[in-house]
Amino acid sequence: METFNTRYSEKVMEHFKNPRNVGEIPDANGIGNVGNPICGDIMRLYIKVENERIVDAKFKTFGCGAAIATSSMVTELVKGKPIEEALRISNRAVAEALGGLPPIKMHCSVLAEEALKSAIDDYLKKKEKSAA
Ligand code: FES
Repeated sequence: METFNTRYSEKVMEHFKNPRNVGEIPDANGIGNVGNPICGDIMRLYIKVENERIVDAKFKTFGCGAAIATSSMVTELVKGKPIEEALRISNRAVAEALGGLPPIKMHCSVLAEEALKSAIDDYLKKKEKSAA
């Protein structure tokens, strides 16, 4: 008899149950807002950048378990990284850091990559504006 199996790795379940860096950064200098057109889930990612390095990251996600776990992992992955390096973090890298995602849930990790890129983009635009 088949037992109930979530098909999620232990790490995904752990980040889902105990997500890191949930919340807002009041003085964030980059905010990314994205929505997943497939399921309607939404993610907001806040970053604090100092000297071109992400010193803090927090998120608020209204979404599935994989969206919560990938949000949590992406904030962990970017903290302390120069923005150039953070820009190279792919959804696949986020999923891999979580021990993989079921193929049907890979689209959820795209949300995390897009939220990060959107937050960095917001930071760069604000920086450009303040330099103008
Ligand atoms: Fe919507 Fe996972 S099902 S992000």
